[in-house]
This record gives sequence, C-alpha cells and structure tokens, in this order.
Amino acid sequence: MKVVITGGGGFIGRKLAERILAQGSLTGPSGQQEAVTELVLFDAVAPPDELLSDDRVSAAIGDITDGDLVASVIDASTNSVFHLAAVVSAGAEADFDLGYRVNLDGTRNVLEAARAATGTPRVVFASSAAAYGGDVPETVLDGTPITPETSYGAQKVIGEYLITDYSRKGFIDGRAMRLPTIVVRPGKPNKAASGFASGIVREPLNGVAMACPVTPESRMAIMSPRTVVDCFIHMHDLDAEKLGASRALLLSGFSVSMGDTAKAVRDIPSNRAKGEITFDIDPATQAIVDGWPKTTLSERAAALGFPSDDNIKDVIAAYIEDELD
Ligand SMILES: NC(=O)c1ccc[n+]([C@@H]2O[C@H](COP(=O)([O-])OP(=O)(O)OC[C@H]3O[C@@H](n4cnc5c(N)ncnc54)[C@H](O)[C@@H]3O)[C@@H](O)[C@H]2O)c1
Repeated sequence: MKVVITGGGGFIGRKLAERILAQGSLTGPSGQQEAVTELVLFDAVAPPDELLSDDRVSAAIGDITDGDLVASVIDASTNSVFHLAAVVSAGAEADFDLGYRVNLDGTRNVLEAARAATGTPRVVFASSAAAYGGDVPETVLDGTPITPETSYGAQKVIGEYLITDYSRKGFIDGRAMRLPTIVVRPGKPNKAASGFASGIVREPLNGVAMACPVTPESRMAIMSPRTVVDCFIHMHDLDAEKLGASRALLLSGFSVSMGDTAKAVRDIPSNRAKGEITFDIDPATQAIVDGWPKTTLSERAAALGFPSDDNIKDVIAAYIEDELD
C-alpha cells in the first residue's frame, strides 16, 4: 500500500516514518494489515538520509500550498495519509497569512487530493490542544468546550471539522487527534512557546546550560514522542465506526511541573557533564503558559485503547535511549 506523510521531514513525521518502516504494515483497504510498499515523505525540507536509504521511501520536497503538487503526491493510488505539515503555534501567530495558507489551505489541498484518490483513503490529521484557550480549566476533558484563542488553534479546529465533514460525505476515512505538547523534542530549539519544556531536558543532557523562562511550579500537559507515534498508528488502524460522529479525539497528556522535570534531569545517573538548570522568568512566556491546561484527560481515548504516559522519568529515559545512546 502507498502511504504519504506530510511534514515527513519534521520531528514527529520522521519518527512516525521510522515506526511504519520498522513494523512494515498498516491496516489497508482490505481492513487487514497490509504491507507498506511505498512511503512518501512530503515536506518543505528533505528528510534525513537514513530514511531515504530504505527502498520503500521517497521524498517529495515542496510546498503544501501548491495544490497541483499535493495532488501529484497524494495521487489515485494513495491508501493512507498522515497530515502533519504545519506552521506551528508561534509561527502562525507571527504571520497570519502564512498560517492560514499552510494550515488551512494546505489542509484543504490534502483533503481534496485524498478525495480524488481511488477508494476511500484513511487520513490522520495532527490537531492540537491549542484548540483550548482563554478561561481553560486545569484539566481538559473530552467534553471541555473548544475555545481556540490563537490563529494556530483556530486553524487546527477548522481542520478537525473538515476531517469530520469529508468523512461524513464518504470522501475520505478521516481521523484527527488533539495532541498535548510532545516532549522531548530533539535537535535545536524551535520557536514554539512550549519549547522550554523540551529544552529543560535536552540542553542539560547535551551539556548546555538552560534558563527556564517559567517558574518551577508551572505545570504542563505532555506526551512522549514514542507514545504519540503509537497513537498515530493506533488512530490509523482503528475501526472508524468506533469514533462515532466526531472524528476528532483528545489525547491524554500527563501533568508535570518544570521543577519536577529539572529534579528528574539532575537525578539521572550519568557520566555526561550536565548543563546547569536555572529559572529566569520571562513574564510574557509565563502568562502564555499560565493559560494552558495542566492536564488533558480523555476517557474516550483510554476506552478506545490509546496509550498515554504517566511520569517524566520514563519520558527522559526514552529520550536518552532514542537520541543520545
Ligand atoms: N510537537 C508538538 O508538541 C505538537 C503538539 C500539538 C500538535 N502538533 C502538530 O503535529 C504536527 C507535527 O509537529 P512537529 O512537532 O513534528 O512539527 P515540525 O515543525 O517539526 O514539523 C512540521 C513540518 O511541516 C513542514 N512544513 C511547514 N510548512 C510547510 C509547507 N508550506 N509545505 C510543506 N511542508 C511544510 C515543516 O518543514 C516541518 O518539517 C504539526 O501539525 C503540529 O501542529 C505538534
């Protein structure tokens, strides 16, 4: 079967690609596990060479806002699409037009291309807990009202509705997942306001000092890269009838404070020289983080068999194993 990952050169897209290649199959048009014979990584940037060395993998490098290009990549023979390409939160807030072009028009391009494919492709869309904003409760539950207060959040919510509506019409077999913050993001810091939640683990373990811009008491809802990849695969393979009328699902992110995260990093026995962690509060970042949910808890996701994490030590251990060892 042919699978396309948009954003396949990004953080989650690459990890998802690795997992699909390792397991070799996904639920196909037959409703049974079928071999993935073609995996296309569509992104504005090239995926790493290690992925491209696999015979099943090819790269399509270009812009998701180019409808003709998207249609040529997600062609008639495409069985499944993971749609992850996006301008992330701070970027979409900084450039209103770019955010709508990529996150809304790009998503329409993906859905229209999938609609034109033979059969009814499964489309899994990466939404975000940025769907919640304003006077958000400490714990976001399945029934918490959707109240985006950023352009990015609004674009993600529109994407969820499009997924549900295209599915209702029978054009695609779509599914959307509302992700909490994924920690630990490897590599260089990005511009996301939540970037410190990865930085506070990543920088010290790479021997670099880290000044956390929020208080040690500040809490966030997080999920590990391994678990979010499990969730993408599970969502893809799930019998759509189990989702019911709404194809959008909240994922559970456990609550962790930055102080506990710093302690867990300091407590890790390691031969590596660790960078120092200090707290140097930036009022603007603190105000943003204070408005975020501290936990996202989805009984619906648990009942449908979606995994979640429950402690920061395991998340850090997985980062060390996957990225450093
Ligand atoms: N990482 C998180 O904490 C998190 C949380 C909630 C939701 N999400 C969502 O999950 C998805 C993946 O996130 P990520 O952390 O891997 O992000 P990422 O920034 O690492 O990856 C996104 C990819 O999209 C690509 N892209 C951007 N604009 C493009 C364009 N015009 N054409 C083609 N490609 C383009 C980028 O080059 C990038 O490789 C995104 O949709 C994001 O909004 C992520």
